[in-house]
Amino acid sequence: MDVARLKESWSLVAAHGEQVPLYFYSTLFLAYPETRQMFPTNMAGQRDRLVTALGHIVSHVDQVDRLVEFLRQLGADHRKFAVRAEHYPAVGEALLVTLRHFLGEAWTDELAKDWSDAYGLIAQVMIEAAEKAEAVDPPWWEAEIVSHELRTFDVAVLTVRPDYLLEFTPGQSIGVSHPVVRAWRYYSPANAPRRDGTIELHVRAAPGGAVSSRLVYGCAPGDRIHLAAPVGDRLNLRLAGSGDLLILAGGTGWAPMKALLEQVAAEGSRREVAVYLGARTRLEFYDTDAIDKLASSWPWLTVTYVAGMDFRRPGEVIRPVDRALADGDWRSRHVYVCGSDEMVAHSVTALTQAGYHADQLHHEGFGEHWYGPAWRPPAAPDKSGGVR
Ligand code: HEM
Repeated sequence: MDVARLKESWSLVAAHGEQVPLYFYSTLFLAYPETRQMFPTNMAGQRDRLVTALGHIVSHVDQVDRLVEFLRQLGADHRKFAVRAEHYPAVGEALLVTLRHFLGEAWTDELAKDWSDAYGLIAQVMIEAAEKAEAVDPPWWEAEIVSHELRTFDVAVLTVRPDYLLEFTPGQSIGVSHPVVRAWRYYSPANAPRRDGTIELHVRAAPGGAVSSRLVYGCAPGDRIHLAAPVGDRLNLRLAGSGDLLILAGGTGWAPMKALLEQVAAEGSRREVAVYLGARTRLEFYDTDAIDKLASSWPWLTVTYVAGMDFRRPGEVIRPVDRALADGDWRSRHVYVCGSDEMVAHSVTALTQAGYHADQLHHEGFGEHWYGPAWRPPAAPDKSGGVR
């Protein structure tokens, strides 16, 4: 298999931009109409999630060993879209028809064979992982909303109770979907696992975000939603039991950090933890009652609120990292960062310039979300929380 040829042909196809997913989906839905219902109801104008990933991942088949864990998780996770083994040939066929269409004369029998073999390899890993997961976890969890509070004009805090236990580690994200929306977005539980299995979610209504808008404005206690298996490990707490922490959070990026704090408390902390929490204005701090309560009951915790905008200094934006670096030297600590892509990128750049090492910085990447290093999907708005 000539992997260089695969990559080169994919970059030629990808250069056609939005035409590629349009052609792919028309091909798939026409030949296999039963697959249409797996995808969001309104796909017009939405950023493609599957095709770009598919082309990229399959053309990087030479990295399959490094990506195997990621692909297993992806395969198991695809059960939440109701994807079964028999759908893989359909998607593979639509992919090849799409490639042939855009490559024109550059499409050869050898290239067709390479793409087909590479797709088969990736698909096999995903299918096997899905089969294995079938014995352990349901494809998704039904959950009831037990409380719903609109805390600011666009942020709601929900408590949900899955019908059966959904295990996760603080810092991970879980898929969340509403039955009428038929799309999934990731949110991080804002609590360490509880005895009663309930999960706290902090949701900001993203512009144009069908799932987030429904969760913020269109849900009430008693409503049912769907949750999917947890993913990601980059924000998990390392070094159990030792090591002081600096936490930088922006907007709803506070949620996984709150879960980490609960985990630290449950450890019977020997750590000092400093949290710098940002929002554009004071009015946007949506969880202050809970935060002040934590800060007053845990002596090892300090919390500094950083309102980014001040009408006395128009045009100037202060971020949590700016305040933290001005306040002290934290280089002996592990630093956890969560917020919008820009907030994370800015924080990591500032910390690196200040002499902090990459291996002491923990964040999900800028728009990388839970994906492996070889694949960068479009930015996920769900943790933006408004801090820029
Ligand atoms: C090698 C095979 C495949 C790869 C590498 C792949 C990869 C991906 C990735 C990375 C995503 C984005 C994940 C997310 O947003 O959570 C995705 C989404 C999705 N995939 Fe796959 N996939 C494959 C096969 C399939 C198959 C066979 C189907 C069945 C028709 C399928 C249906 C979907 C659906 C419905 C979505 C969500 C799309 C959306 O929300 O817009 N995938 N896939």
